Amino acid sequence: MRVPVIAGNWKMHKSVAESASFARELLPSIAAYESVERIVAPTFLALTAVAEALRGSGVGLSAQDAHFEPQGAFTSQISAAMLKGIASHTIIGHSECRAWLGETDERVNLKVRAALSCDLTPIVAVGENLQQYEAGQTFAVVGRQVRAALQDVGTADMSRVILAYEPVWAIGTGRNASAETARDAIGDCVRATLAELYGASIARQVRILYGGSVKPDNMSQYMAEQEIDGALVGGASLNVSDFAALVAIAAREKTAGNNS
Ligand code: 13P
Repeated sequence: MRVPVIAGNWKMHKSVAESASFARELLPSIAAYESVERIVAPTFLALTAVAEALRGSGVGLSAQDAHFEPQGAFTSQISAAMLKGIASHTIIGHSECRAWLGETDERVNLKVRAALSCDLTPIVAVGENLQQYEAGQTFAVVGRQVRAALQDVGTADMSRVILAYEPVWAIGTGRNASAETARDAIGDCVRATLAELYGASIARQVRILYGGSVKPDNMSQYMAEQEIDGALVGGASLNVSDFAALVAIAAREKTAGNNS
């Protein structure tokens, strides 16, 4: 069985002090749900403070990006090598990075490989924009993104990769994809592409999340879908009770509530 994942992407929210105190406040309400992989992704600046707050809790700490070169003349960037030993995960290929920072499929691939080589679990985000969605191009776009992101990633590393289907039109818009839309994109496109690349057995083991306006009141419908292994959450991860509710729902729906 695939272990469900709930990852909170805090984006450019919360100061260092706010991030650390939020993490401390969050812990008691999610501590019991050990059957769910719980991850928070604060701003780079707050990673060490949040690491300290999370120490010994079993909650994962993710960066929001990771440069592929270990070091160099890349003003503003932070490398996977620098994150090694601080973070356990890093988001790569978020649509906001693709839109605002010129992230390309090729760079996403370099970053995924750099993350893996630095013992970071990449959470690789893929997803079509509104125009592509309305033109019926979802599978073509997402399939291409998955193939590009995983080029030269070996079978042995796939157990460490998490994918997230985040349709751009659903991010921060309140317009979440229906559970059926998310299920089809995840099962018939992302997982089907993994099966082509790595075989059916590996494809069945990889966790694939949905992201885009996930809230406590729509979470159950996603978790009821066998293909959807959890959520990558923006807005609702900034609120302790909402994030805790998402973790509780994942535990209930995916692990028969065996640890609440
Ligand atoms: P929202 O949950 O705010 O739509 O953000 C989703 C997201 O981008 C997570 O990475």
